[in-house]
Amino acid sequence: MGDTLRRVVLNAPIVGRPEPADFRIVDEALPAPGEGQILFRILHASVDPGVRSRLSGGDSYSAALKPGETIDGFSIGEVIESRHEKWKAGDLAALVAGWASHFVSDGKGYLQRITDPRPPLTTWIGVLGVPGMTAWFGLHRVATVKEGETLLVTSAAGPVGASAGQIGKKAGMRVIGVAGGPEKCAWLTREAGFDAAIDRHATPDLAAAAKALAPKGVDVLFDNVGNATIDAVLPLMRPRGRIVVSGQVADYSAAPADRAGLKNTDRFITHRLRMEGLVVFDDVRAFPEAQDTMAGWIADGSFKYREERFKGLDAMPGAFCGLFESGDAFGRRIVDL
Ligand SMILES: NC(=O)c1ccc[n+]([C@@H]2O[C@H](COP(=O)([O-])OP(=O)(O)OC[C@H]3O[C@@H](n4cnc5c(N)ncnc54)[C@H](OP(=O)(O)O)[C@@H]3O)[C@@H](O)[C@H]2O)c1
Repeated sequence: MGDTLRRVVLNAPIVGRPEPADFRIVDEALPAPGEGQILFRILHASVDPGVRSRLSGGDSYSAALKPGETIDGFSIGEVIESRHEKWKAGDLAALVAGWASHFVSDGKGYLQRITDPRPPLTTWIGVLGVPGMTAWFGLHRVATVKEGETLLVTSAAGPVGASAGQIGKKAGMRVIGVAGGPEKCAWLTREAGFDAAIDRHATPDLAAAAKALAPKGVDVLFDNVGNATIDAVLPLMRPRGRIVVSGQVADYSAAPADRAGLKNTDRFITHRLRMEGLVVFDDVRAFPEAQDTMAGWIADGSFKYREERFKGLDAMPGAFCGLFESGDAFGRRIVDL
């Protein structure tokens, strides 16, 4: 065990697209756990596009991260020292440890012990973690999906989108995904069981492409991308359709005034539509049941997921910045520490 805590911090509030130079690594003495605390060594950490909304100085679903604060993120940790009665050395957990080599926890907050041996460890910060839970509760609680409905998912090859599409299929829906590039689209239809996929780079008119695949319209839009996408799909929404606002990966780096607006809102009236966002932690008490079902699907091979692996804390800023625009990310980005 080293005696250094390494963590990634923000240099200054970011304007526009994030770059690796916006971050730096600081080395500090590793703190010892106090009474009631647990010291975790971080084995794997993930990067989340939603964190971008907290890096420009304004608050989002959580408070803005200030320069010098550890960048937020989900990790798999192993207890190396515990002064907490419920935790012992060697225990494994999924937790919010940020982009750091170690974390001292007081046992509160998002800290989930990992005991299920079926799924690979890293899935607990991937499809069994916040991305998969966002898909599950976005569909089952927010949209209350039904068999036979048509689901359109954007950024469908990402961990949230690919989970949403497959959860939709398991619920008996017809599922269309939007993703960037032929490789991602082929994976969605051949591996992940989507009924159809639209390559957003090859299709200037998303609405026309979606209409060709769903002539009767869309019952549920699960959107990870932002306003332009929602506005394009609004005219295709069927009566009583639901739009789940999961994420805004195309809009996070833009100031509100520079984002696309919604123009087709008359559809809300004529077709009795509902649009609702979610913060996945609202459903945290119900995670275990959903995770148990999805772990079973992973174990029996009926649920597919992709991971991209990076090595070392120094790789975290680059892994994060690649989530935006370039579209080179294909699956959950996991950094092995
Ligand atoms: N509400 C919640 O509680 C909650 C919780 C977790 C995550 N989320 C949100 O869920 C969304 C998906 O998260 P994720 O982790 O699965 O990430 P993700 O979808 O893999 O995000 C990266 C991908 O977004 C797409 N993208 C990037 N810029 C784009 C643009 N300008 N236009 C269209 N697509 C663009 C690219 O895919 P393509 O090239 O394939 O299009 C890129 O590979 C994010 O917006 C995230 O913030 C919400």
